[in-house]
Amino acid sequence: MYVCLCHNVTDARIHQLVRTEGVSTMRELREHLGVATQCGKCAKCAKDVLREAVSEARCEGSCSGMLAAA
Ligand code: FES
Repeated sequence: MYVCLCHNVTDARIHQLVRTEGVSTMRELREHLGVATQCGKCAKCAKDVLREAVSEARCEGSCSGMLAAA
């Protein structure tokens, strides 16, 4: 799904950026992808997707840590 039409940013791209670059704030997202820097209509949706992606990344990290310890 497209999150930011002005910069052609999808939710998948945000999830990928969180996993690979450790992005966790709107400021970092803005710097990397330009999200919410033009019309600004995507800000709320981008924030929601970012929050979800960070939460998933944290869960993956702690789950793999648990597996490594087992
Ligand atoms: Fe993201 Fe316009 S839709 S800045």
